[in-house]
Amino acid sequence: MSRLIVVSNRVNPPNPAEGGEGSVGGLAMALAAALREYSGIWFGWSGKTIPEFTGQLNMQRIEGVTVATVDLEETDYQEYYNGYANKTLWPLFHYRVDLTAYDRSFGEGYDRVNRRFAETLAPLIEPDDIVWVHDYHLIPVARELRRMGITNRIGFFLHIPWPAHQLVVTLPRHRQLVEALFDYDLIGFQTEESLQAFEGYVFSEVQGAKNARGELVAFGRRTCAAAFPIGVDAQDFAEIVKSDNARKTYDRMMAHSVFRKMIVGVDRLDYSKGLEERLIGYERFLHDHPDMRREVMLLQVAPISRDEVEAYQDLRGRLDGLIGRINGAYAEMDFTPIRYVNRSYRRDELAGVYRAAKAALVTPLRDGMNLVAKEYVAAQNPDDPGVLILSRFAGAARQMKEALIINPNSPEEISDALERSLSMSQDERKQRWEALFDNVRREDVTAWRDNFVAALRGRPGPDDEGQ
Ligand code: UDP
Ligand code: G6P
Repeated sequence: MSRLIVVSNRVNPPNPAEGGEGSVGGLAMALAAALREYSGIWFGWSGKTIPEFTGQLNMQRIEGVTVATVDLEETDYQEYYNGYANKTLWPLFHYRVDLTAYDRSFGEGYDRVNRRFAETLAPLIEPDDIVWVHDYHLIPVARELRRMGITNRIGFFLHIPWPAHQLVVTLPRHRQLVEALFDYDLIGFQTEESLQAFEGYVFSEVQGAKNARGELVAFGRRTCAAAFPIGVDAQDFAEIVKSDNARKTYDRMMAHSVFRKMIVGVDRLDYSKGLEERLIGYERFLHDHPDMRREVMLLQVAPISRDEVEAYQDLRGRLDGLIGRINGAYAEMDFTPIRYVNRSYRRDELAGVYRAAKAALVTPLRDGMNLVAKEYVAAQNPDDPGVLILSRFAGAARQMKEALIINPNSPEEISDALERSLSMSQDERKQRWEALFDNVRREDVTAWRDNFVAALRGRPGPDDEGQ
């Protein structure tokens, strides 16, 4: 059996030896779960910077997975990670042209780091391996590997949305970026909507076409593109919720919210998550429902993310102000309407928190998928489940139709959904939850991995060329 080599910028699997959890973020969570049963290699950035790039590999064996990481130099980190990845591609792909920086040095840093990744990775690749590259940081990795003569099957999965054609063309090097994707044998998107947007670009911008085998043909090459919605390890989550730590957290939460219904939000502190809109919706709810004010509280967990990027610092400042204002207006001596926490929690603690919450607010303005929505469902008590309030702009909304679907730009819709979720009958909550859980369980992270890997293996290899 050939090995699976996973490549991603963020490589931080949970490491029990260090008593720690992995990174916060859907990609790290999903890949840790996906690799659990595969003794493959996970390759990427160590998260550290050094004065000069050496290409030295740090190898570790964590829970059956070989983790191979490389340090980046400070300029790489600034131009590639803070720059092109997080000031250019991330905002643009989340429809925030206003926050997008188009700086040539970022693009150069991006290409340089992708070349460095490929050069460091290439010696690890054996003839039968399949390589699976993840997310917007690393689009050109296949191009660089191909230049070095690597002919293995290489797949790519984009964890974030692929935006509409008109947004992509605002990138000065959009053609080059899309062309680099044609060095993959398979490109995976989270949703049909992203897939269609990508195809739309290929058809109208570079006169590409689809051949009789359903492959996309452009730039003198062909590839295959499809939607593979990512999931969570639902079974594992349903187990974790029974663990000691989860139970302790659940008990603590219940003790602290006596006589109150807890609403929960869990998001990296990111402008794509619609945190301000959510809080304004909650403020509207408190304003419109004086009778319910003393019955609720909102717990917002928001670990700091990408804090060297100005847009994230600005958001943090605005959230501090907004939360201060709402708490100032609606708090009582013995009650604070919003509990706001800027740190991250372990999976088992989150599981306990999710289970204690009567409703979850998942209100991104744009999101590739959103795993928190699925984890919340997986952690519920089947006999007395909470209600998921979900933005129509999360990829997850395609699969989770039984949630209360809202437009996060509307404070009224958020307020109405809160009112509805808190007064919903147990029967309706159970009915909705059963359908949601059925989907979360069926379309889990294992199905995602297996479907993608099977499709990649099924692609014609270099020896079948032209057949
Ligand atoms: N997460 C976590 N601890 C926290 C906050 C978040 O472990 O304190 C995890 C969360 O459980 C989920 C992931 O981070 O698995 C967030 O993924 P999601 O797809 O919701 O958003 P992303 O951060 O990838 O944009
Ligand atoms: C999202 C991205 C991931 C990223 C994660 C955390 O899930 O799709 O690629 O790893 O956010 O962000 P960070 O910048 O800390 O890796």
